[in-house]
Amino acid sequence: MSVLNITAKVAAPLDQIKTQALVVLMPERKSLGTRLKELDKYLGGTLSRTITNGDFLSSIGSTCWLPGTQGIHRVLLVGCGSMNQRTVVSDKKIAEALARTLVSSNAKDAIVWTDGVSPKAAQPERLLEQIALHLTLSHYQYSQTLNHRKKSARTLRRVSLTPANLCTPATAKRALDAGSATGRGANLTRELVNLPGNICTPRYLAGEARKLAKQHASLSVSVLDERKMADLGMHSLLSVGNGSEQPSRLITFKYQGAPAKTRPYCLVGKGITFDTGGISLKPGAKMDEMKFDMGGAASVFGAIHAAALLKLPINIVGVVAAAENMPSGRATKPGDVITSLSGKTIEILNTDAEGRLVLCDALTYVSRFSPEEVIDIATLTGAIIVALGHEATGIFSNDDHLADSLLAAGSRAHDRGWRFPIWEEYHRQLESPFADLANIGTGGAGSITAACFLAEFAEDYKWAHLDIAGTAFRSSPKGATGRPVPMLVDYLRERAGRR
Ligand code: BES
Ligand code: MN
Ligand code: ZN
Repeated sequence: MSVLNITAKVAAPLDQIKTQALVVLMPERKSLGTRLKELDKYLGGTLSRTITNGDFLSSIGSTCWLPGTQGIHRVLLVGCGSMNQRTVVSDKKIAEALARTLVSSNAKDAIVWTDGVSPKAAQPERLLEQIALHLTLSHYQYSQTLNHRKKSARTLRRVSLTPANLCTPATAKRALDAGSATGRGANLTRELVNLPGNICTPRYLAGEARKLAKQHASLSVSVLDERKMADLGMHSLLSVGNGSEQPSRLITFKYQGAPAKTRPYCLVGKGITFDTGGISLKPGAKMDEMKFDMGGAASVFGAIHAAALLKLPINIVGVVAAAENMPSGRATKPGDVITSLSGKTIEILNTDAEGRLVLCDALTYVSRFSPEEVIDIATLTGAIIVALGHEATGIFSNDDHLADSLLAAGSRAHDRGWRFPIWEEYHRQLESPFADLANIGTGGAGSITAACFLAEFAEDYKWAHLDIAGTAFRSSPKGATGRPVPMLVDYLRERAGRR
């Protein structure tokens, strides 16, 4: 994957600027500021003429290309609306429009001017962070299984941003670094999620984890195979892979950014590399989308990659529970009872409710790291799409402070979540006459009963569960979004005191 280089620079005089694209953030204001007036003069008045002709109104997210002059090949105007009314949502719209338009152009490099943004606007560095994030996200292209890279291959290589009077160059650099690290993490997540199930198997994920660890001195990886998991007693996780020719894996990342004894933040990801439903077979329509069922696992990769790029001064343990859910003569059947790592027995009433079966053993496993907090991430239920559509990630937690932190991180990062209850009353749906727990509820609130199931294995620590079935990927255009990496990275930065 090619990386887009994004840096902060001091502004140069116009006649010394050499760039293929000068990007100008344009406020909704009657008169141009001094620097924009100078630019207008340099461009022979095209800027002011475009505005007086009414061809560019500077509404949020609007864009307009103008021809350049001398060292400036072209100029891209990006509307910022009225900066007094700037909200977190408008930041994202501005950044998305800028990134999409610039990345799809032929420019190899660009300079971004933020003169139009009022320095009085609250936390202007957040806009810079969003710009770096969306430039990086827009730059991503899936290509691994495409024979020839499409004609639209990315040409953009370098973007520099002049914070002008907006914030100090140091603040700008921090914001840009955070945005691009988050984007790079999310792009790693997208690539893994987009890969087909015949390539991205549990063993492949283990290999990619080792590759990622080689990139960062502070990151190490260990992998448990099926024999080691059986020795430990992870029969719930193993029951999911029983029907598959692909052996299951438990992958553990250790990122050390703080002294060894500091308690880690734990991320646990559902890594079902393909979910057929097993013996409780899914219908055929759209079944291909179940290659995305390792989106939680991939977001553990992405969040850890970003944390390591940012050298966050905390410890993180990432655990990926990877298996393939297939029907076969050896597959787990409805009615089977298995014993989980915790010792709790589980009656498997529906083999398609497999995510919770791999996660519960991983949640028991992470107790050994004395975690500060544990977050699991999973494309867990279709029901969360009924409740929230594709806008928000479902948040469930046994700790109000942790839930609030994730909600706040989600809104700062424009990767929002919404909290659901996991009350005692819902837990009753999981009672079984043959085991300690059934793996599905008796009816209604499917995302909540799934979370209640997980909560039974997360009693020893502060825990949250993110149901990303609606947010990890889109059906059209089909592909991974990289969510909830921005939310997770923002949360980790906050816990690391870097927010
Ligand atoms: N991976 C699916 C959930 C899912 C559905 C993710 C649609 C993305 C899009 C999960 O393993 C599953 O099959 N869940 C079942 C649970 C049910 C059997 C209780 C579901 O949601 O139907
Ligand atoms: Mn399933
Ligand atoms: Zn699944």
